[in-house]
Amino acid sequence: MVSVPSWGATEVNASTAAAPASVSRRFPEGFYWGVATAAYQVEGAWNEDGKGESIWDRFAHTPGKIKNNDTGDVANDHYHRYAEDVALMKSMGATAYRFSISWPRIFPDGSGTPNPAGLDFYSRLVDELRSAGIEPFATLYHWDLPLALQDRYGGWRSAETAKAFAEYAGYVAGRLGDRVKHFFTINEFRTFVESGYQGLDVPMAGGQTIHLGGAPGVEFPDGELNQVRHHAVLGHGLAVQAIRARGPADAKVGFAENGRWAVPAVDTPEYVAAAETATRELNADFLTVMLEGRYTDAYLEQAGADAPAFTDDELKTIASPLDFAGINVYRPHVYVQPSGEPPGYRVVPFNASHPKMQASWHIFAPEVMYWAPRQVQSLWGAQSIFITENGCAAADVVSSDGKVYDSDRVMFLRGCLEQLQRATSEGVPVDGYFHWSSQDNFEWVNGFGDRFGLIYVNFDTLERTPKLSAQWFREAARHNAVV
Ligand code: BG6
Repeated sequence: MVSVPSWGATEVNASTAAAPASVSRRFPEGFYWGVATAAYQVEGAWNEDGKGESIWDRFAHTPGKIKNNDTGDVANDHYHRYAEDVALMKSMGATAYRFSISWPRIFPDGSGTPNPAGLDFYSRLVDELRSAGIEPFATLYHWDLPLALQDRYGGWRSAETAKAFAEYAGYVAGRLGDRVKHFFTINEFRTFVESGYQGLDVPMAGGQTIHLGGAPGVEFPDGELNQVRHHAVLGHGLAVQAIRARGPADAKVGFAENGRWAVPAVDTPEYVAAAETATRELNADFLTVMLEGRYTDAYLEQAGADAPAFTDDELKTIASPLDFAGINVYRPHVYVQPSGEPPGYRVVPFNASHPKMQASWHIFAPEVMYWAPRQVQSLWGAQSIFITENGCAAADVVSSDGKVYDSDRVMFLRGCLEQLQRATSEGVPVDGYFHWSSQDNFEWVNGFGDRFGLIYVNFDTLERTPKLSAQWFREAARHNAVV
C-alpha cells in the first residue's frame, strides 16, 4: 500500500481546489507529464532470473571506480518493488513513465538466445503501468551494455555491437510492442561515449575540471573515439529500422540525447541565429548527423585524420526517419553572441558568480528549456519533441516532521516549466516532459550521493518519501499548466 504524499491541511486544500482562473500557462491538450529512470540506476537484482553481467556491473564491482564503492546491485530494488513505485507515480499525477530496458536481462550473452524471464519483468511492469493509466516509454540503451559484447568486440568500438543492438531492439519491439508504443533507442550518446571511452572532463566550481570515467573505462585517442561515436549513431539508425521491421505498425521511435545547447545571450534575431549555428556545430557528431544524414564540413575538417570512417549507406541508416526527437535538457552548454568570423558565433563565458544548482556542473539557466526545443524545431523541423530528462540534484534530507523540503528543486522546476510552456505557447511541438528522476537513485560514478528524485529514497531501508517537489509536479500535471 502506498500513501499519497500529504503536506498538511493547507496544501491538501490547495490541491483539491479548482485550477486558479488565472491559469493561462497551460500546456497543449494530451501533454504527457512523465518521470524517468534507468535500469542500472534503480532495478537492482543484478544477477537474478538469468540476467547476464553488464559493463556497469563489472565496473561498479571494481574497487575505486565509484564513490564509496557503491554499486547498483540492489539500488532501489525497483525490480521487486515496481508495483509500489508505479503506485507512487500515479499518486504524483504522472501520466507517463520512461524506463530503460536492461539489454543483458534480455540477451545475457549480448545476442543469440533471449532470456524469457528478463522480458517477463518488463512485461509485468508495462501491465502495471497501463492499469494505473500511465503510458510506458521504453529506452533501449541506457548504458548497461552486456559485458559479453565488451569482451567479444570491445563494445561500441565495433560495428558488430551496433548490429547486435538492432537485433535486440527489434526483438523487444516485437515482444512488447502490443503495449509499448514509444521507444527511445539510445540515451545520451555523448555522455556514455565520452565518459566510457575517454573519460569526461567535468567543469567544477572555481574553474577546475575533474576527470570522470564511466564503464567500460577505457581511454581511446581521438580517432578511435570518433569511430565509437559513429558506431553509436549507426546502432541508433539500425535499431530504428529493426523496430520498424519487427515492432508494431504504430510504434513511434526516436532517440534521447543531451544536446550541447547554445543559448543566445541576448534575445535579438542576430543572437538567435548565432545560437542556432552554434547548436548545429556543437552537436555535429550526434544530433546533427542523426537529423541531417551528414557530418558537417566543419566537423570533418576539425577532425582531420581523426575523422570516423563511414559510408554513404551508413549515413542514410543513421538518418532513418524518426517520429520524434527526445532531448535531455539540464543546462546550456554555452551562451553565445554573433560574430562576423567563422564559425559565426562567439562563446560568452559563464560568470564565476552565475547561479548553480547543487552539482558543480549545473548552471541554473531555465531559459535553456525554451531554446533547446525551439532550436530542434527551427534547425531540423522536428514535428514532435519530448523533453526526455530535466531535473537537478539537491541536498535533500528528511526533516524532523518526516518531510523533505526541496525548495530549490521546486524553484528549478517552476523556472524550467515556465520556459517550456513559453515554447509550446509559441507553437514549438513539445508533446511531453519527463522529470529526471522519479526517485533518488544510483548516480553512476557518484554512487548514491547525488539525489535527483521527486521521491526521496532511504538507501538503508529503501523507504520512499515523496518530496515537496512531488507535490509541485502533481499540481502541474493535474492542471496541465504551470500553476
Ligand atoms: C542521465 C543519467 O541520462 O543524465 C542521469 O542517467 C544523469 O543519472 C543525467 O544525472 C545527467 O546528464 P548529463 O547531461 O550531466 O550527462
